[in-house]
Amino acid sequence: MRWFNFLKKRTIQQERDFALYDTHSHILWGVDDGASQIEDSVAFLKAYARLGYQGVVATPHLNHWMFETFPFDVYEARLASISSDMEKEGVTVKIGGEVMCRDDFVSGFDRGLFLGVGDTWLVEFENRPGLFTPALEQMVFNFRMANRTLILAHPERYGDVQKNPSILLSLKERGMLMQINLGSLVGKNGHRARQLAWMFVDNGMADLAATDVHRLSDFSIIESALERLAYHNPEKFRSLVNENPGHVFNGQSYRIA
Ligand SMILES: [Fe+2]
Repeated sequence: MRWFNFLKKRTIQQERDFALYDTHSHILWGVDDGASQIEDSVAFLKAYARLGYQGVVATPHLNHWMFETFPFDVYEARLASISSDMEKEGVTVKIGGEVMCRDDFVSGFDRGLFLGVGDTWLVEFENRPGLFTPALEQMVFNFRMANRTLILAHPERYGDVQKNPSILLSLKERGMLMQINLGSLVGKNGHRARQLAWMFVDNGMADLAATDVHRLSDFSIIESALERLAYHNPEKFRSLVNENPGHVFNGQSYRIA
């Protein structure tokens, strides 16, 4: 039975003629609440390879009150420690970050404290009311004017968005990219997040669908979500997990309309 399932899964992966890319992952070990040991990072790489991923942006929490933000060379050392496994599994990992967008975000950014991929940074907010202010819209606009791109991590999970999804429109219009979590599509983050994630897929609000994996057990959820998304809309599937994240991974976020 196990062998049968293994064959079935291999077939699902091999049916695709394109690689997947992930723009949100806690694969680097020992730097936040994601992978804790090197063995975890290596197991993540194997799981990514099995699902058909070829490129992953590691996005450790940065500027977060719960986790330490380390000097860049710590993240680079973590990446170097898994480089031979990356080669073995055929999965390339690049270092970025998931930056908490607090009051000190702009000053920290100007001092070069945050890691991004090319000219693109992944940001998250504290989940509290009153997040979406004119000052935030202006900040997103200023980044856009400087040819820099901000990706908003999992908008479907914020209480303010769940109450009024249209508040995302002004950020989207100012060039912010929207990244839904694949897990939300299968209910990992509750009913409302699931409803919104599918709505954002269907109405074009979502630009990217990423894993946000923290532990190995997350990959079975990701696999279910990938299967459902591919079945629901093969074209959207391709743009959300191959084309658009591929542009981000390759430093070409400007190609995402
Ligand atoms: Fe995350």
